[in-house]
Amino acid sequence: MRKDFAGVTFKGNELYTENSVPGTRVYGEQLLKQGGKELRRWDPFRSKLAAAIKQGLHTFPFNKSSVVLYLGAGNGTTISHVADICSKGCVFAVEFSPRAMTDLFYVCQSRKNTVPILGDARIPDEYEDLVAQVDLLYQDVAQRDQVDLLVKNAEKFLKPGGFAFLMVKARSIDVTKKPSYVFNEAETALREHFKIIERVTLDPYEKDHACILVKRK
Ligand SMILES: C[S@@+](CC[C@H](N)C(=O)[O-])C[C@H]1O[C@@H](n2cnc3c(N)ncnc32)[C@H](O)[C@@H]1O
Repeated sequence: MRKDFAGVTFKGNELYTENSVPGTRVYGEQLLKQGGKELRRWDPFRSKLAAAIKQGLHTFPFNKSSVVLYLGAGNGTTISHVADICSKGCVFAVEFSPRAMTDLFYVCQSRKNTVPILGDARIPDEYEDLVAQVDLLYQDVAQRDQVDLLVKNAEKFLKPGGFAFLMVKARSIDVTKKPSYVFNEAETALREHFKIIERVTLDPYEKDHACILVKRK
């Protein structure tokens, strides 16, 4: 596990980010005081980005000022840590489930560097007026057409040379194929549009999932 990722504190086997809303928890995570700061434990069983770090991700392109488009924000678990890391940047969080949006809204309300957007990642035109050009795209939608979705959004919002994370759920693409086969197929499709930087599988934290990191050509 690399130990020099911007905004991530490593303590033994555990990961933490600096809590941007001290005294509050998002999903029951442990809080820890350290040198006048408050850290929040980042649980790899609850967040695929933390799982990817634990699984040996080498490249961590986030920094304090990163502007991020996050597709499939869910209840805001991972977003809250990305917002801690990109404390001087901005995270645009797209989610299409009104139920998840209710929780996401509360997470974003106290984090001034986040913008919750109720929208469908398949239709980026819906939110193009709300989103800036971004340094990083992060997608975790668990849908069959996840590669197409990433390409569509990258063409519209990702700066040339920007990085994109795709969290691939093999079973959402094809339950009958071996996960490694599905990951290879996704990588081949991505290669037409991006440079592949690295891939890590997320077992045992997330069964049959992989994190693929690419860079816009
Ligand atoms: C695995 S969950 C996300 C978990 C979240 N990324 C986290 O780590 O905290 C996938 C989410 O993607 C959302 N989603 C699926 N398809 C979508 C789409 N086309 N547009 C926007 N959100 C979508 C689902 O409603 C769900 O909340």
